[in-house]
Amino acid sequence: MNVHITEAKRILVANDRGGYTVPTDRLYPFQWNWDSAFVAMGFALYDTDRAYRELERLIEGQWADGMIPHIVFHQPSDTYFPGPNVWRTRHTIPTSGITQPPVFAIALRKVFEAAGSGAEARTLPLYEAALKWHRWWYSARDPEGTGLVALLHPWESGSDNSPAWDIALARVPTTTDTPVVRKDTGHVNASMRPRDEDYNRFIHLVDTYAACGWDPAMQWGKAPFKVAEIQTTAILLKAGEDLEHLAREFGRTEDAAEIAAFNDLTRKAILAQWRPALSRFVSRDLISGEDVEAATQAGFIPLLSLDLEKNIADALVDEMKAWSKGLKVAFPTTKPGIAGWEPKRYWRGPAWAIINWLLIDGFKRNGHPEAAEELRRSTVAAIEAEGFAEYFDPVTGEGCGGLGFSWTAAAYMWLAWT
Ligand code: GLC
Repeated sequence: MNVHITEAKRILVANDRGGYTVPTDRLYPFQWNWDSAFVAMGFALYDTDRAYRELERLIEGQWADGMIPHIVFHQPSDTYFPGPNVWRTRHTIPTSGITQPPVFAIALRKVFEAAGSGAEARTLPLYEAALKWHRWWYSARDPEGTGLVALLHPWESGSDNSPAWDIALARVPTTTDTPVVRKDTGHVNASMRPRDEDYNRFIHLVDTYAACGWDPAMQWGKAPFKVAEIQTTAILLKAGEDLEHLAREFGRTEDAAEIAAFNDLTRKAILAQWRPALSRFVSRDLISGEDVEAATQAGFIPLLSLDLEKNIADALVDEMKAWSKGLKVAFPTTKPGIAGWEPKRYWRGPAWAIINWLLIDGFKRNGHPEAAEELRRSTVAAIEAEGFAEYFDPVTGEGCGGLGFSWTAAAYMWLAWT
């Protein structure tokens, strides 16, 4: 077997904390939501029991209202800030109070298909959890029924420090009730991490929502940051398609109709966010009512979940080629050369294996297998050269951030092995 696959499996073993996988030791010492979904897909390739376990442990953190939190604090650790005492949530297991991109149902379908016949009983509770979460997205984060779901904290996007948030986040005060004691910069060079001022804003938002007792309607009313976000919505739609498929498999016809209605609404809403002049889809800032025009990877993620007209798919692919020109590793999370572009700083330029994985699937879906193959090769080569880093500097190819990273290992398995 390819030595790198062996190494990828070793990383998942090293990051196992008892049925769930931490993203990497010390920097991220708990269970993260979308990381675990990607990791479960990795396990699905060779150990479906462990893949199910990953998802089962994640939903231990699911709230009564259906929200699946972005972090489940299964065990205490003092190497991460903000911990449970900052979040002040009320679930039986300590969790954060915000969510993350809903990759869960995409993973669940893959795990179920890998497990084969007889897996229905184990899949059903996870299916129910996913359905509750999707309902939460539409009620808590799209109360006006637009079809686009909104984020109330940049960390909910998974692209925590993206230039997409610069304008919306600048309105958030830097004052906090909570002392900000960062731990991340003790593990990773500060030049690769968010700036202190933005960290204060991130915590200001946590304080605001904790003061709402984490009630979704109250938070919606009070939120100083509210972005109907294109990457999350596109992921929700792909997950919705997979959930609808599972509903039909399990004979849940009413559920299937309900999910299909969500999907139809969202499909139309995403299409309305296409901006031909930018050759991208855009998010909407719900506080200002304006488009978020920052040039980031998010605008291309709809490739994953829509069967686009050829002229739109071609325009997206051409634009992506233009951004990738001359880079050692594609795909940059920010357009090279623009004001917000920082090739080593967290989500402001670097290439991430899991984003590439989504884009590769999007290229395949939309009739661009050669673009898929090129990006697949570039991602595999970057990992083989530098190891399972959190992300890669697209200019030099250097592996950056945390090392021994679980989702990079899972992505490698899918991209190199399948
Ligand atoms: C960072 C990333 C986020 C990820 C987490 C754990 O916060 O921005 O997407 O889930 O690390 O890997």
